[in-house]
Amino acid sequence: MVTKYLIMNKLEKEDIQGLLVRGYGNLPTARYLLYTGTDPGMTLAFIREILPKITPASEKPASEAFQVAFTHPGLAFLQLPDAVLDSFSREFKEGMNDIHRQLILGDTGEHASHHWNWGDEPLHFLLLVYAKDEQQLEKSMAWLDGLSQTHGVQLKQALPTGLLYGQKEHFGFRDDISRPIIRELVGNTELDPETSFPAGEFIMGYKNLYDEFAPAPTVPQALDPQNKLPPHPDYGEQRDLGKNGCYLVFRQMEQRVSDFWQYMKTTAGDADAAIALASKMVGRWPDGSPLTRCPTQPDPSLSDANDFGFWEEDKAGLKCPIGAHIRRTNPRDHLVTERTQKDSREMAAKHRMLRKGRPYGPPLSPELDPHAILQSPDDGSERGLHFICLVTDIRRQFEFVQNNWVNFHKFGGLENDADPIIGNHYQNERRKTDSFSIPEYPVRKVLSGLPNFTVLKGGAYFFFPGIRALHYLSANG
Ligand code: HEM
Repeated sequence: MVTKYLIMNKLEKEDIQGLLVRGYGNLPTARYLLYTGTDPGMTLAFIREILPKITPASEKPASEAFQVAFTHPGLAFLQLPDAVLDSFSREFKEGMNDIHRQLILGDTGEHASHHWNWGDEPLHFLLLVYAKDEQQLEKSMAWLDGLSQTHGVQLKQALPTGLLYGQKEHFGFRDDISRPIIRELVGNTELDPETSFPAGEFIMGYKNLYDEFAPAPTVPQALDPQNKLPPHPDYGEQRDLGKNGCYLVFRQMEQRVSDFWQYMKTTAGDADAAIALASKMVGRWPDGSPLTRCPTQPDPSLSDANDFGFWEEDKAGLKCPIGAHIRRTNPRDHLVTERTQKDSREMAAKHRMLRKGRPYGPPLSPELDPHAILQSPDDGSERGLHFICLVTDIRRQFEFVQNNWVNFHKFGGLENDADPIIGNHYQNERRKTDSFSIPEYPVRKVLSGLPNFTVLKGGAYFFFPGIRALHYLSANG
């Protein structure tokens, strides 16, 4: 189904940080840098130094790109007035490692924040540095090292990332196929309402799916005497600090690649059966082709396919299990809690996110072919995904998916299952979440005792401001 949308607002691309509209695939080398300041004034001076380097969405850089985002403790450290600090959303203020938020997110047991490498102690800001090659990245790093030393800014973590062969993640599956399209970016064209969204779902200051402005932080007019910020569209007496920004969710997820494939092999038998089982868990074959379209074997001609649903094609999950990763994280047109296909579509659409993360660590096998991974001995290296998503509403988008779909053990009428790939699998006296159900005719198959294949190693919520807001913040008013 396609619909023609009338685009009311053009995106102010020169005021939007570039990651919101691109993935910087032409800049394959990157490092994610987590900093804390020691002196607020010096830290602001550091931010002012890097500001000219921050790449707006209007530019497509050929050699490097810089992006910046702040935690709530970071904004407090920069001495933003309380009236402004209070205007951010509750979940951002509390942070990902807050005990209540950890319960919502399912970050308990080995995922709990006291086990993390970073994120349980206050961090102030995040710099995302992308480069065309290692040499360029080293140049940027040397410049940043000098700046941080002169400004008393401490680099707490420098997380390397790198794109893997064939757009794959470490288990050997193609990733980054299903991407929401921002309607305002493509203009007045005919668009599929299931895959295209109003900008306000991902960028503050534009209308969202509720035909409202996304909730955004504000500044009382008196605190912006030079009118550096635009007026807030709903509250005329406030200035809009959120305009052209969003929230950035960051989770470092270690992937236990050897354990994953050993489990598949032991449970399924031979290599082909192991690959078929792993694909049932993901919902796509390693080449990306969706199980709903080609349930018995991959079809390379469908490896980019994203125009499928479950209501008509696979309601019972006989092709793509109801609990598969892609079906939990985006149930598309079939949610058992909704009465109609249309209601399911509308519900799923309100919980999308722009995924922008990248893998880290060496691949277990260079081309990430599952047959080769299955034959590769565990090398003991850490590898995983730096999961990053951009949203305007952390609670409605990321946390909702994580809580109600990824980790909910009764999702879709199941009983003891969590997402097989990223869910928290455990059993205690109250609950069991370590099963994976595969609908089959006449009797479904249920696997029990799934270990955790991914483990959280760090995480935080950030505010990813527009460029004008960044100028306002770095001048501190
Ligand atoms: C190490 C962790 C993860 C791995 C290995 C992983 C892997 C994958 C793969 C292979 C796909 C299919 C490719 C595609 O449709 O683009 C996918 C899709 C997706 N994943 Fe993940 N993922 C991980 C973490 C997460 C997390 C933390 C979330 C959010 C809670 C998430 C949300 C999604 C969404 C929304 C889709 C697209 C589903 C669709 O629209 O069909 N993933 N993931």
